[in-house]
Amino acid sequence: MKFIQGKRINLRVAQVEDAEFILNLRLLQHKSQYLSPVENDLLKQKAWLEGYKQKEEQALEYYFVIENKQHENLGLVRVYDLQPDSFCWGSWLIKDGAPQTTAIESALLVYEFGFNELGYRQAHFDVRKGNDRVIAFHRRFGAQVTHEDELNVYFNYKFEDYLKVKQKYKRYLN
Ligand SMILES: CC(C)(COP(=O)(O)OP(=O)(O)OC[C@H]1O[C@@H](n2cnc3c(N)ncnc32)[C@H](O)[C@@H]1OP(=O)(O)O)[C@@H](O)C(=O)NCCC(=O)NCCS
Repeated sequence: MKFIQGKRINLRVAQVEDAEFILNLRLLQHKSQYLSPVENDLLKQKAWLEGYKQKEEQALEYYFVIENKQHENLGLVRVYDLQPDSFCWGSWLIKDGAPQTTAIESALLVYEFGFNELGYRQAHFDVRKGNDRVIAFHRRFGAQVTHEDELNVYFNYKFEDYLKVKQKYKRYLN
């Protein structure tokens, strides 16, 4: 079972029992605007998580609940589409009222996991056009835009890019 311990937060793999937390967050209009829509159906969410657990068992995908050190849920982030030379991350969502450092720390922990634990040399991810705050977030981390289509902006992020910023953000890590 994957459990990633950070400084102020942990990433723990989602369980079927997290269905309600996940669904409630994904149904918030202001949070889900730039994410794939989900149906308001708890049974379907549970079934989706059961499917996910099988992928997790085969080390194909990791869906993490972001929690604080008191094990209170703060958000979600997913590592998926594990290509031979690149991992993808996304489905990133942090609930209102979470500490301001949660976004940076969760991104750093995802990179620590993908680069150091899974051993990848690069990552890829896409962000919906118009999700300017998230696009700016990735640019500040040094991610490169590879291409765009009507819907998304596509990014590539290399281990070297990460190493350049890691020093700057070391206060967010243990
Ligand atoms: C995506 C998401 C998890 C990012 O979290 P967030 O808290 O909004 O992230 P922010 O970019 O505002 O960063 C948090 C804080 O860290 C600061 N910050 C971010 N990157 C930084 C950097 N590289 N250096 C310094 N400060 C930085 C921000 O300025 C912000 O501080 P502020 O509140 O004083 O403005 C959140 O916006 C969310 O849940 N969005 C809805 C779902 C979504 O669109 N997900 C993305 C799909 S691709």
